[in-house]
Amino acid sequence: MSRPDHNLGLDLARVTEAAAMAAGRWQGRGDKESVDQAAVDAMRAVLGTVEMDGIVIIGEGEKDDAPMLFNDERVGSGEPPLVDVAVDPVDGTRLTAEGMPGALAVLALAERGSMYAPGKLVYMDKIAVGEDAAGAIDLEAPISDNLAKVAKIKGKDMDDLTAIILDRPRNSSYIEEVRRTGARIRLIRDGDISAAIATAVEDSGIDILLGVGGSPEAVTAACALIALGGEMQCRLWPRDDSEREYAREAGLDLTEVIGLRQLVSSDDVFFAATGVTTGELLDGVRYLPNGAETHSVVMRGKTGTIRFMRAQHRFDRLSTLTHIYDGSMDSSQSS
Ligand code: FBP
Repeated sequence: MSRPDHNLGLDLARVTEAAAMAAGRWQGRGDKESVDQAAVDAMRAVLGTVEMDGIVIIGEGEKDDAPMLFNDERVGSGEPPLVDVAVDPVDGTRLTAEGMPGALAVLALAERGSMYAPGKLVYMDKIAVGEDAAGAIDLEAPISDNLAKVAKIKGKDMDDLTAIILDRPRNSSYIEEVRRTGARIRLIRDGDISAAIATAVEDSGIDILLGVGGSPEAVTAACALIALGGEMQCRLWPRDDSEREYAREAGLDLTEVIGLRQLVSSDDVFFAATGVTTGELLDGVRYLPNGAETHSVVMRGKTGTIRFMRAQHRFDRLSTLTHIYDGSMDSSQSS
């Protein structure tokens, strides 16, 4: 990047705050699409103010056919630095819609050309740990070996170890394997960006992430893990024969272990997340009379700086997006 001294992460927090405040209005209303739409609208509007020439590499998605913040969209003011962008306006749209904990608004940047583009393959098999266990994992080794190595390097007994796993039928063999070792399991409904970060946050009580989750989320989480000094390994996970065929035609190797530095091949990364609903990492949006309070984390790869920030927002003094933040307009009416 041409201006490494500017901590773009702080600018990104404004964007994730906006997305979280917009999405939070839909908490518990059972409408996943509106959660996402509100966050996308807010994120997109504020992203335009960030001084950068960004290309969306990890966009809203192959999975959802998103009309905005799609892959290859140009975002930012158009001035340098040149960056790759990963957006996840809400990681945990269902969690938000159902009023459940742990949803985040997320945005990450990395030096232009450094983010892995998973294309149409929306799932990856993942293993991730924090800095204290970096070097102890191997996606190709049995789960029991990985857990034994992580326990050893962390100086824990196996039954003190906690693996975090997305609760999906496709992950049932991992759940059974972990159970056989005697390690503990934290099953989550959604939100494996937050889960990957938890492995690298002291006091989270989480030691390792295992199982198949979203590919975009893997690349986005990799930006955070670079800043946190953690490790992640992934492998593309096709859902069916048509995805296997797509991979063959696109020259994607389905057996390759994709390391952290292949997911994002630069230290020059920024990551920001704001809590939408309260979870272990961040508090959710709290709406106040005529305002809101947000809780965010900002990370920078080059320096390893991690900032947790609370912000108070005054809706009566905001000139843009007030209609979204103060709940006076449904996102379906916004443009
Ligand atoms: P969204 O909120 O964007 O739908 O993603 C939530 C999530 O749980 C991710 O954290 C995870 O990587 C992915 O979905 C798993 O996909 P699926 O729900 O299709 O199993």
